[in-house]
Amino acid sequence: MKALGIEGTAWSLSVAVVDENDVIVMESDPYIPKEGGIHPREASQHHSERIGELIRRVFAKVNPEEIDVIAFSQGPGMGPCLRVVATVARVLALKLNKPLVGVNHCLAHVEVGRWKTGAKNPVTLYVSGGNSQVIARRGNRYRVFGETLDIGIGNALDKLARHMGLKHPGGPKIEQLAKDGRNYYELPYVVKGMDFSFSGLVTAAQRLYDSGVSKEDVAFSFQETAFAMLTEVTERALAYLDLDEVLLVGGVGANSRLQEMLRIMCEDRGAKFYAPPKYLMGDNGAMIAYTGLLMFKHGHVTPIEESYAKPDFRIESVEVNWQ
Ligand code: ATP
Ligand code: FE2
Repeated sequence: MKALGIEGTAWSLSVAVVDENDVIVMESDPYIPKEGGIHPREASQHHSERIGELIRRVFAKVNPEEIDVIAFSQGPGMGPCLRVVATVARVLALKLNKPLVGVNHCLAHVEVGRWKTGAKNPVTLYVSGGNSQVIARRGNRYRVFGETLDIGIGNALDKLARHMGLKHPGGPKIEQLAKDGRNYYELPYVVKGMDFSFSGLVTAAQRLYDSGVSKEDVAFSFQETAFAMLTEVTERALAYLDLDEVLLVGGVGANSRLQEMLRIMCEDRGAKFYAPPKYLMGDNGAMIAYTGLLMFKHGHVTPIEESYAKPDFRIESVEVNWQ
């Protein structure tokens, strides 16, 4: 079976076709803001201008007739972007006469991670621009055990980077700078129960930079603090749920220091640590296609009249009837 998936919840625009075993083709064309953060209207305009070309490129490699199901990222995300994706998915489904599956973006990160790592029942740390969540399955739902109380860790990294004059996306630049950091400066470590918060940390790190501390030391201190918070909550979820696998997904998952901290924590507890290949960590069409395929095989279909954008789509609302 083959599924075509469209991802476009925010900056990323990506179309892929997968089968049960692998990614057959993936074509991506991200929206990169000229300056500052992501403007929803501009991003959606980018998506509507470019998506036709991406689909043409995909259909140059895979015959549309071979596709069994059309999957699309239904939410959570930016309303204008989601509406472009949903509209295109509906048109494709109607034109090709194929079923449609609306996919939860967060669920797709988890499922593509499980697919490509072999993790069975992990505690998933999902860290991206807009989201930071600790997720695990209980019965027939994924539950969020801890999450950010304000901004996602990726947005926090991007904000700090912007303040230090670095271009979007800031995460990889902070990672490089942090490698040359020598001095640790204490910053607010905010874990409340199972939740965490980053906005106070960003403000404090920005002040630290304004006071004359080097970019390298600010980046290093920020990463050590923020990633320790994420690792602590992940470890508590492991202990509380009595699980022994950790799966790291989302764009920030590419960070080698975060991976290292989680790996050490897992080794200490006798747990296994998994991270999918980098091209499947950030937002990508393959994760939507694969999750759509999995859902379709287990009876999920989204009728056209229910295929509207869901900007606040929560992972808990999806019934998980697969293994
Ligand atoms: P979502 O819609 O799930 O919130 P997103 O739109 O933020 O996702 P992702 O590709 O999952 O997209 O994540 C992008 C984020 O990842 C950006 O904030 C970017 O700075 C960050 N990032 C990318 N590479 C690294 C890295 N090596 N270290 C830290 N952060 C990184
Ligand atoms: Fe994402």
